[in-house]
Amino acid sequence: MRVLVTGGAGYIGSHAVLSLLGAGHDVLIVDSFATSSPRVIKRLEALSGRVLHVIERDVRDYEAMRGVMASWVPEAVIHFAGLKSVAESVADPALYYDVNVGGTVSLLRAMAEIDCSKIVFSSSATVYGTPEYLPYDEAHPTNPVNPYGRTKLVVEQLLGDWIGAREGRAVTALRYFNPVGAHPSGEIGEDPSGVPNNLMPYIAQVAVGRRPHLTIFGDDYETRDGTGERDYIHVMDLAEAHVAALMHLATGERMQIFNVGTGQGITVREMVRAFEETAGVRVPTEIAARRAGDLPRFFADAARARDMLGWMPSRDLHDMCLDAWGWQSRNPGGYDAQEDAA
Ligand code: NAD
Ligand code: WQD
Repeated sequence: MRVLVTGGAGYIGSHAVLSLLGAGHDVLIVDSFATSSPRVIKRLEALSGRVLHVIERDVRDYEAMRGVMASWVPEAVIHFAGLKSVAESVADPALYYDVNVGGTVSLLRAMAEIDCSKIVFSSSATVYGTPEYLPYDEAHPTNPVNPYGRTKLVVEQLLGDWIGAREGRAVTALRYFNPVGAHPSGEIGEDPSGVPNNLMPYIAQVAVGRRPHLTIFGDDYETRDGTGERDYIHVMDLAEAHVAALMHLATGERMQIFNVGTGQGITVREMVRAFEETAGVRVPTEIAARRAGDLPRFFADAARARDMLGWMPSRDLHDMCLDAWGWQSRNPGGYDAQEDAA
């Protein structure tokens, strides 16, 4: 299939591009490089053995997106492009609505120009908000507790309206849990700018000596060991879920929503221990107060994706740590510290 991948240079998008190419799809990446490095493209080309089609554009630029659609004429779009920091969304909600909602509006309008009717959307488990029960299934009420989460929910609602407006449209929204790890080559991985917000890149940067210790945000939660519990999913499993979702668009189902997680909760302490054992490196920790807005624990009911997409995660916690460490130890300073890849 000819697929347009927005945000294909980012953490999840770059891994998904490899899986898509591996499955025989033709890919065009549209990315503004707002939160990613152009250097990822050379890595993807080396790993895939293909010359990639890449266009540097902002998805909010409707005229540019129209031009891209007219020249590439995709059969489907996978829409990763967006901003994802909860804290930044609280500080600048208008930016988040502009990029995440406005960017999708522009994209959908440009798709309509060429009658492109299929889209896979990067949603998030954060749309559920405080759990009324666990595991979250897709029927769990949605009540996001921060602007970032609300932009994801608004886009899901927009997509629900969009499919109703024209015959033949189909949407698959994937609600990711906590993506971690990297491609097993160690050539691509998660490269946050500045201080990482998320647990795994923080642990990896401590392990490689970039930061002195991991601050554990709270050890007084009602969990097995008092630390926060999450459903971590290997980014390659997540990448493969997009290939399955793309195939599912052809089934004629109009709007489908799937959790993408393993269904298994892992605490912060368990993650630190697993990383230390896998990497053979100590990760010093310090306990601090709870981080504002954090939930104690959540994890997915992933049965629907298994039953309807035929997708199941195949990588375990050891693989997540091994591949996160493989990436970080080969690229201690991330993409832009690598002079060879310019
Ligand atoms: P990322 O920041 O690594 O990738 C996002 C990509 O989109 C980057 O390459 C960035 O340059 C690009 N981009 C941003 N704004 C753009 C714009 N206006 N026009 C064109 N390109 C733009 O993030 P990621 O972790 O790969 O996340 C991808 C998607 O998945 C996002 O929509 C995010 O909200 C969603 N998501 C991520 C997580 C997570 O924990 N990583 C969890 C749930 C959902
Ligand atoms: C995991 C656990 C922290 C960092 C966030 C977004 C969510 C989603 C994924 C996109 C928690 C603890 C973390 C640290 C720590 N993104 N922690 N020290 O909070 O589940 O989700 O990213 O949709 O929207 O909210 O992930 O990796 O930040 O935290 O103790 O330095 O690790 O308290 O218990 P989270 P996370």
